[in-house]
Amino acid sequence: MVKLLWCLLLMSILVSTPMVMGHGEEGEEMGYKGEDVFLLQRSKQLMKTDVGEFRVVKGFGGRVAGIQNSIHIGFINMEPKTLFIPQYIDSSLIIFVCRGEVKVGTIYKDALEEKKLKTGDIYSILAGSTFYMLNTGRGQRLQVICSIDTSESLELDVFQSFFIGGGMNPPSVLAGFDRNTLKTAFNVSGSELDEILTSQRGGPIVSIADEHEPRMWASLLQLKQRDSLQQLYDIEEEENTWVWRKLMNSMLGKKTDRDKKKTDRKTDSYNIYNRKPDFKNDYGWSVAIEENDYSPLKQSGIGVYLVNLTAGSILAPHINPTATEYGIILRGSGSIQVVYPNGSLAMNAKVDEGDVFWVPRYFPFCQIASRSGPMEFFGFATSARKNWPQFLVGARSILRTMKGPELAMAFGVSEKRFSNFTDKQREAIILPSAPMSPLLRNLSLSPEDH
Ligand SMILES: *[C@@H]1O[C@H](CO)[C@@H](O)[C@H](O)[C@H]1NC(C)=O
Ligand SMILES: *[C@@H]1O[C@H](CO)[C@@H](O)[C@H](O)[C@H]1NC(C)=O
Ligand SMILES: *[C@@H]1O[C@H](CO)[C@@H](O)[C@H](O)[C@H]1NC(C)=O
Ligand SMILES: *[C@@H]1O[C@H](CO)[C@@H](O)[C@H](O)[C@H]1NC(C)=O
Ligand SMILES: *[C@@H]1O[C@H](CO)[C@@H](O)[C@H](O)[C@H]1NC(C)=O
Repeated sequence: MVKLLWCLLLMSILVSTPMVMGHGEEGEEMGYKGEDVFLLQRSKQLMKTDVGEFRVVKGFGGRVAGIQNSIHIGFINMEPKTLFIPQYIDSSLIIFVCRGEVKVGTIYKDALEEKKLKTGDIYSILAGSTFYMLNTGRGQRLQVICSIDTSESLELDVFQSFFIGGGMNPPSVLAGFDRNTLKTAFNVSGSELDEILTSQRGGPIVSIADEHEPRMWASLLQLKQRDSLQQLYDIEEEENTWVWRKLMNSMLGKKTDRDKKKTDRKTDSYNIYNRKPDFKNDYGWSVAIEENDYSPLKQSGIGVYLVNLTAGSILAPHINPTATEYGIILRGSGSIQVVYPNGSLAMNAKVDEGDVFWVPRYFPFCQIASRSGPMEFFGFATSARKNWPQFLVGARSILRTMKGPELAMAFGVSEKRFSNFTDKQREAIILPSAPMSPLLRNLSLSPEDH
């Protein structure tokens, strides 16, 4: 209780008088006062909209000061009936609900977890994990204090947000990919794509549009918790037989190939081509070797992977939440797109046999095989643990896992419109190429392409 009072006091000092929003006192900073060297008095406003703000007090230490484990302290303030749109951050957060009520949705591994938190609750959000916050308090402001652990950060800024939802402001990281790639990956028309990527203009903290109330409010308040059986059915519906079989095997205690390898391992080498793919469909396959498959990887902290895409196929736009990835094109050719945190294209490069690429942790990217033949690439990840890549497009993407009024609101479209959009792509992870017009097909078979 003492802590709570202290926290309220702190909030009232930091959040200069009543929270009047909309008057751009951008980047307002307070200087260091006299000799109070252990007071962190400088706060920086990182995000601000008409209905909320995210302010940070930078922690002392880090590499320069030679102090390990420096953290920043974040202060999130949100007006009633507002949403902090889905994003992931290059730092882990421990949030503390100082005042009000909040529904937090996070992606943990491949599932959505939704929690209703009240004053005094503490909750952890991992670096690279997509999350949103919804102020659910009736007519009440939400005040959240969080620690921002910078030990896993890209060190580009205090921290780096990657917005999943968005539009004109802020842009979604999706917007950084090539438009034709996105049309193909989502299996939608250009106009459908433009609608989704340009509707939101309200900034990172948005309020529920009046016309959508109160029906939308009611659905926002609900938790989308589904029992595990329902999840199994859903998976079956999506015809992801691979996952289905794996889940069934684990439920029945049956050993998978991977488990067998674990127990039968007698040699000290491991053949990647002898491993059954972790994922396979008509458009390609992939395998990842982790420390549980081959224990020497535990010491080195390096993971290994191999991907084979059929001609024209796309390894759907995705992010690695826990590792930086290096890759070498073994066979074929294609292209690689990498997107900056701010949702602009960082690279769209053609790659050929022998080329080496790298993709920083957290950066969205995709690989596309050229239409002239399959592309096989091999590589390393800077983590030997299961990486849980997060897909942005396709049947097993964040957009599908988090589907609901929050995500639709984050893109500034109705829920119906949004699910109509995300449901068009039936495949997961490795996606088929766009059908070619006969003229193009003839062109791509011409000798110059080889
Ligand atoms: C990759 O797929 C192609 C067919 O798309 C196949 O010819 C090739 O053998 C595969 N590579 C490996 C290593 O299995
Ligand atoms: C996005 O970030 C990159 C790298 O920091 C920068 O070069 C680029 O200008 C930024 N684009 C926009 C639109 O802010
Ligand atoms: C879904 O998308 C199709 C276009 O592919 C459109 O004809 C239809 O009206 C859309 N439905 C809704 C509810 O938006
Ligand atoms: C793309 O959408 C069409 C219908 O709009 C559907 O028939 C087709 O199966 C979809 N393709 C994929 C790969 O999901
Ligand atoms: C494509 O090539 C085939 C023969 O390979 C030819 O019959 C057909 O007319 C061509 N189509 C176009 C649109 O050029």
